Amino acid sequence: MKPKVSVIGAGNVGAEVARRVAEKDLVNVVLLDIVEGIPQGKALDMLQAGSIVGYNSHIMGTNDYADIKDSDVVVVTAGLARKPGMSRDDLLAKNTAIIKSVSENIKKHAPNSIILIVTNPLDTMTYVAWKASGFDAKKVLGMAPLLDLARMSSFIALELNVPVTEVKATVLGTHGDLMVPVPSQTKVSGKPIADLLPKEKIDKIVDRTRKGGAEIVGHLKTGSAYYAPSAAAAHMVEAILKDTKETICSSVMSNGQYGLNGLYIGLPAKIGKNGVEEIVEIELTDEEKQALKKSAEAIMANNEKCVKL
Ligand code: APR
Repeated sequence: MKPKVSVIGAGNVGAEVARRVAEKDLVNVVLLDIVEGIPQGKALDMLQAGSIVGYNSHIMGTNDYADIKDSDVVVVTAGLARKPGMSRDDLLAKNTAIIKSVSENIKKHAPNSIILIVTNPLDTMTYVAWKASGFDAKKVLGMAPLLDLARMSSFIALELNVPVTEVKATVLGTHGDLMVPVPSQTKVSGKPIADLLPKEKIDKIVDRTRKGGAEIVGHLKTGSAYYAPSAAAAHMVEAILKDTKETICSSVMSNGQYGLNGLYIGLPAKIGKNGVEEIVEIELTDEEKQALKKSAEAIMANNEKCVKL
């Protein structure tokens, strides 16, 4: 039997995640939303595309959590997206309530699943999902650092006019204004980025990466990014289902690594069938270590606000 992936939230990101995992022909997909008709209509449309694209994934849309029973992975995209001028933290109170209720439903109907959070503010929503689900911390993780490093990689590829697949960027910390792009661990065809670009250019790329989500919100005006976010989430689903143990920068529960404890934050981690298999420690400069500490403080402040909500 094919594994089962449920996607909660059938909006822009959720529908694209469902489509991407269905197209990988890896899984059967359940798309769930609170709005009646949307997940059913989108799922039926995707099911019919299988005949043309050549996949046999079964896709169903539903409003009923009973349908997520026996899921191997549940991807959570339910919640509000940013509008122009809104920070990810503005979403905090509204999305905390949504993530709590979604996580309680996952606990009830898919207690053996791995939970992958996409909803923002990402690190804190992953923390809320962990608390509300009562799951082992390794079975709950967040998507965004892979998205952030994809953005950084694409800016570097544009600047150097090289294939993006040759760029291996690293981004840690929070998925927010205090994210930590890591130039010291960023390479192009194996060469350190500092050997290829002057510091001013690297600083500009770092800044654009930090504001990468807002740049897209500014263009779209009515919502936030979904092509790259869904690609990142689908890649992580594949790592879990195929147990690749690939090292992927993800929002994970830190347990002393990098001097951090008790919070979800972007770190490199091996991802496999048990969720977070191992956090990987890499060399950072003193400046990058300081930035990671600041990032952690911002996440912890948000976590404290959420606990009181
Ligand atoms: N249960 C299920 N679905 C819900 C719930 C809920 N309690 N609350 C809201 N939703 C659904 C909405 O009905 C909507 O279809 O979540 C969907 C969100 O879709 P969009 O508004 O299109 O937002 P999207 O762009 O997909 O972003 C979702 O991902 O990247 C993050 O910042 C982004 O937090 C946002 C999330």
